[in-house]
Amino acid sequence: MHPRHILPWLSWPLLAVCATPSSSPSPAAKVTPIYQFQGSGTWAENIAIRSTGNLLVTRVDAPELWSVDPIAKTGSLVHRFNNATALMGITEIYPDVFAVAVGNATTAGDPVTGSWAVWTVDTTDTLQGIDIQEVVAIPEAVWPNGLGRIDDAPGVVLVADCVKGVVWKVDLAKRTYAVALEDSTMAQMDVLGINGVHGYNGSVYYTSTALKALFRVPVDGEVRATGPVETVAQGFGVDDFAIAPDGTFYVMTHAGNTILRMGKDGVVDTFAGAADSLEVAGPTAGQVTGDGKTLFVVTCGGCGRDAPDVTVPAGVLAVELDPSI
Ligand SMILES: *[C@@H]1O[C@H](CO)[C@@H](O)[C@H](O)[C@H]1NC(C)=O
Ligand SMILES: *[C@@H]1O[C@H](CO)[C@@H](O)[C@H](O)[C@H]1NC(C)=O
Ligand SMILES: *[C@@H]1O[C@H](CO)[C@@H](O)[C@H](O)[C@H]1NC(C)=O
Repeated sequence: MHPRHILPWLSWPLLAVCATPSSSPSPAAKVTPIYQFQGSGTWAENIAIRSTGNLLVTRVDAPELWSVDPIAKTGSLVHRFNNATALMGITEIYPDVFAVAVGNATTAGDPVTGSWAVWTVDTTDTLQGIDIQEVVAIPEAVWPNGLGRIDDAPGVVLVADCVKGVVWKVDLAKRTYAVALEDSTMAQMDVLGINGVHGYNGSVYYTSTALKALFRVPVDGEVRATGPVETVAQGFGVDDFAIAPDGTFYVMTHAGNTILRMGKDGVVDTFAGAADSLEVAGPTAGQVTGDGKTLFVVTCGGCGRDAPDVTVPAGVLAVELDPSI
């Protein structure tokens, strides 16, 4: 999520540093539109995949959770949250139980401290339907952005606060919250700080919009840092990111209109989309299916950053992956 009014984007220089994306794109990945919301100004912010294969999609332009069927290519409203204006990150915490950040912000920014809470979306009971409950308010949170989980801390939601510059941990069972991680690489500068957060292989990985980089920090089961923060890759615009079962990272470049791929060798290349194309129009977040074959991506439709006329409605895309690479 990058609100445009606080972003003095000028250009997207690809710095000559380690693990910058190569300028020659790899053979174009196959991108299939799955669903498009209606109207410009729509903004899909984050995504999670249900065991049924259906997608849960959050919106910032409306306090709404949507369900998208990638086979039928249809979408429907699951729930509209009263007393809030926006949804941010969503992530699966227990099988078929998802955590989502709900509060007040707009697509232009304007986060309201004191408005944020973590809710659960329980889809386990297919007869009763989806059960949605508020779990814990985080009155000190300024702007929860991406949500994540880590295997070593079951039942814990990682919440990236892109203005406060911290990772909150929310224990769903105990209904408690605390700052788990805080580092200068998470801080807001002229633009948002930490954006996406996901646990992987004993570390918390996170992107910083301000620093245009992907970082990691090793943690213990309490989500306490057990070593220094390391820069994994840098030199590209970032929003949230997805980690495939084979350890490949897919980074959404938001206003860059591309998806970057970082293989296990640390080499970053442009995997899908192009700066001058709306094929991948403002990718905000993604998730890879359990079989590693498909990356589902949500977009803000180009977000109208530099050219307000050059946008399309927000949408959901399927990107074909080759798990053998
Ligand atoms: C959040 O927005 C809702 C809907 O506009 C409003 O009713 C509520 O008072 C707001 N909450 C805060 C803390 O400003
Ligand atoms: C709306 O949100 C505010 C701030 O989070 C809270 O104080 C208030 O009780 C909520 N109202 C309702 C009707 O949920
Ligand atoms: C996982 O972490 C271990 C221990 O830190 C490290 O040796 C290994 O390379 C990591 N694997 C991946 C895929 O990052």
